Amino acid sequence: MAESLSIPATASRSEQYSALVRSLEHLLEGEDCRVANLANVASALHMTFGWHWVGFYLLDEERDCLVLGPFQGPIACTRLYRGKGVCAAAWERAVTVHVPDVEAFPGHVACSSLSRSEVVVPIRVGNHVVGVLDVDSERLADFLPADVAGLEAVVEVISQRWIHWK
Ligand code: SME
Repeated sequence: MAESLSIPATASRSEQYSALVRSLEHLLEGEDCRVANLANVASALHMTFGWHWVGFYLLDEERDCLVLGPFQGPIACTRLYRGKGVCAAAWERAVTVHVPDVEAFPGHVACSSLSRSEVVVPIRVGNHVVGVLDVDSERLADFLPADVAGLEAVVEVISQRWIHWK
């Protein structure tokens, strides 16, 4: 198992994500614990890009909400409900939601007052959203199109393996 990541700091943002996806494929190989794998993905993203908050919210079908999963960053809201916030929007619409200015997003859930911009990518398995990857930055409009595409590529690594994880 890899204990360090080698993502060239001088590479373009797209190249960094490509290198990260390759590292994650090795890191996740042979491990079927969902919590462990999501924890390492959150850590790898946080180590590579230094975002304010990186983590997962997972679908709690029984309570029809998202519940906090593995993350890196300040403590966060434990449960997120339909119709309120960026994570719920990505879950309910099953599409990536990119918010350059969180104050301009009606119903944004401010788990941290320092968050200024945010990207949430749904984890789609078949026709079902099983959770979301949420990334927050302390800087306004901090996410480039390459970040949105790169985060979607990272989530694709997860969704391809999801049914094999426990
Ligand atoms: N801002 C999110 C809530 C989760 S925190 O950012 C970690 C939202 O509006 O759903």
